[in-house]
Amino acid sequence: MKFEEFQLERNQSTWENKVDYNLTESGVHPGTLKTLFNSDFIEKIQNTEITYGFTEGSPELRESIASIYEGATIDNIQAFNGSAEANMVSILTLIEPGDEMVYMMPNYLQIYGFARGIGANVKTFHLKESLEWKPDLEELSSIVSDKTKLICICNPNNPTGSVLPKDMVHKIGEIAQRVNAWILSDEVYRGAELDGNECNSFWEIGYEKTIVNCGLSKAYGLPGLRLGWSISNKDYINQCWATHDYTSISIGRLSDVIGSYVLHPDNRLNTLDQIRKSLNNNLELFQNWLEGFGNHFRFIPPQAGAMAFVGYDWKINSSKLIEKLRDETSVMLVAGDWYGMDNYVRFGYGAKSADLKEALDRISPVLKTL
Ligand SMILES: Cc1ncc(COP(=O)(O)O)c(C=O)c1O
Repeated sequence: MKFEEFQLERNQSTWENKVDYNLTESGVHPGTLKTLFNSDFIEKIQNTEITYGFTEGSPELRESIASIYEGATIDNIQAFNGSAEANMVSILTLIEPGDEMVYMMPNYLQIYGFARGIGANVKTFHLKESLEWKPDLEELSSIVSDKTKLICICNPNNPTGSVLPKDMVHKIGEIAQRVNAWILSDEVYRGAELDGNECNSFWEIGYEKTIVNCGLSKAYGLPGLRLGWSISNKDYINQCWATHDYTSISIGRLSDVIGSYVLHPDNRLNTLDQIRKSLNNNLELFQNWLEGFGNHFRFIPPQAGAMAFVGYDWKINSSKLIEKLRDETSVMLVAGDWYGMDNYVRFGYGAKSADLKEALDRISPVLKTL
């Protein structure tokens, strides 16, 4: 088993804590326990015994998660350390060397690299800029076959921030059912839609062989809790619970307590509302800045998430461009190269507004010399 370098994460791990301004994040800048929670709840955290807790996630946590998805019960839910672990366990549970799977591009590339590492044959279908970063489902339809074991979706999408409309969600479900494939939908940006309407989850298609992975890192702005989950049929949940015994046993006990609270129906929408407000403010600031460069940038605004995926016309490779900006201004962006798409950069606009403004002001003079 040999894994190719996960370029996006490797570059972030190497640089994110060394630069003055890190615009590589795809979620909103996190708060602290003190700024996010009231004193009663903070006291509850202080009085929690730090046991292993429940290896599937506490009943309270799974109740809160199940309340997001119509018709779900706690037996449909397994908790993980981030949606990254949920994704990894999905592949470990379903895919064997030589299996064929189909994967949406562009994408976060964790599932892609991990599945290839364990010997899967990964075919790709594409979101197209000419379709406002939506897929051509004819393309998907033409590459699936009876051999396809799994179709992997990222909705809302990283890096484009595009959202699949309801009819596409259901059509993809029909395509999967036609060839008896599983669907794995990574929905970690669901809840961070800029217009405030939560997008259609693949859970709603009601197809047994569907797994939805999600977590608190993006829409809820709580990446440091490392809390994610899978929602699927009960058999799959039992299998992935057993696989999880080998990966990390359980999630952090305190993350479980905080997650139960944040996702509780009394609190969840308040958190999402605040996050959306700050994303909308920052996106406006970002777009005003972008306009100062005329036609050099090409941009389809995101529908969700804190990422702006922007094409540029300067004759410089995207890795070279972000290295130049990083070395000359101590601001870090994501290179399109890390998605296999040169001549694009991804700006994380979820930083604190003042930091975002300062970072953009710093890189402007360098961009003007190109
Ligand atoms: C699409 C997607 N899935 C999963 C992850 C991992 O997130 P988590 O912090 O929930 O493990 C990311 C992180 O950027 C992502 O963009």
